[in-house]
Amino acid sequence: MTLPNMHQAEAIPAEARAALDDLLQTGDLFRYTAPSDAPVSLLETEFAAMMGSRFALAVSSCSAALFLSLKALGLPRDARVLIPGFTFAAVPSSAVHADCIPVLCEVGDNYRIDLTDFEAKLDDVHAVIISHMRGHTSDMDAIMTLCDARDIPVIEDAAHSLGTLWHDRKIGTLGKIGCFSFQSYKMINAGEGGILITDDADLVARAVIMSGAYEHNWKKHDVLHAALERWQNQLPLYNLRLSNLSAAVIRPQLPQLPRRIADGLRNHDHVAERLQTSPWIDVPPPLSPETRAPDSIQFNLVGLTDDEVTSVVAAAKTVGMKIQVFGLSSDNARAFWNWQFLPEQVDLPQTRAMLMRACDVRLPVHLPVDTLDAVADAILGAVEAVMGGQKAFGT
Ligand SMILES: Cc1ncc(COP(=O)(O)O)c(C=O)c1O
Repeated sequence: MTLPNMHQAEAIPAEARAALDDLLQTGDLFRYTAPSDAPVSLLETEFAAMMGSRFALAVSSCSAALFLSLKALGLPRDARVLIPGFTFAAVPSSAVHADCIPVLCEVGDNYRIDLTDFEAKLDDVHAVIISHMRGHTSDMDAIMTLCDARDIPVIEDAAHSLGTLWHDRKIGTLGKIGCFSFQSYKMINAGEGGILITDDADLVARAVIMSGAYEHNWKKHDVLHAALERWQNQLPLYNLRLSNLSAAVIRPQLPQLPRRIADGLRNHDHVAERLQTSPWIDVPPPLSPETRAPDSIQFNLVGLTDDEVTSVVAAAKTVGMKIQVFGLSSDNARAFWNWQFLPEQVDLPQTRAMLMRACDVRLPVHLPVDTLDAVADAILGAVEAVMGGQKAFGT
């Protein structure tokens, strides 16, 4: 069986073409031109309803949503924001952009926040961004208890977690604000785009104004108008709006989400079960309250030297399988030591050790089931070619 193309996107539903055609006919691409029912506004209403949130604000990216969330919290300049040391560079960047100082905490070899380090650093921060990196949910019960006790606001970076559940509650609705991405490698693909959700009228009102609802455009938002009126002319405009073109591409994908989530989990668990048969591979299990919605798989190479890990990556490449080891591929944007723009540098030995052994493989949700074994075979074959099939104990 030949390997599938792991970078092939799923086709955009045909309904999007009709919606785009209408838009192109009218030229009505700006979200605030139409008096009502612009595609961006409809997307916000539909997304909020889907998530069970009071408010949604669609913006140009998840990074923009994170930035606006921090600004909307009204944090003072140089506010300290706790962020897991395993995330994408755009996340600490959003804090730097908002004049905040990212404070990194350790992450364990199950890709989840180390709660001892998290708690140790919590008394010294003004806000927290929980990045559910690659859709792995940290212990949100413990995190929310610790943060609520200190009245520290939690922003959930749910860029990789659209559809993930925690005790049957939707990830992105547990903290004060949840941020999602519509960039191409996410569950919903508009090339670029993002959205934030919250139940807090004042927070969303501030974010709406700063996203670029200048003059009285805020009246086109389904948000408490009293809150919006309060913030009119009080805040800078960062113009991070979403275009109607993107909303037209996103909206027909929302009904596809349950199918994508189910297929993503099926694909992940099939490959994970095969990989677990290797003595050299560990696929960390979900936490018990967590129901995942993965579109990629992560696993650790256990008991290998750096050279052996490099050889596994090379062996996989010879059969066309791309395995990325977060800490070994140069300039990786998910390796915290490459975030040299941070105002405060820190070493995180535990997170570093994890990143040197943690492998990342895309697993698009639309891969047909009969290609999954080819993916697992390619990974297992590469590991076996370097390490053999058995672990030699006691030598
Ligand atoms: C964990 C994580 N958070 C946030 C982002 C930012 O998303 P966007 O590209 O929509 O700005 C990314 C980007 O891939 C990401 O990986």
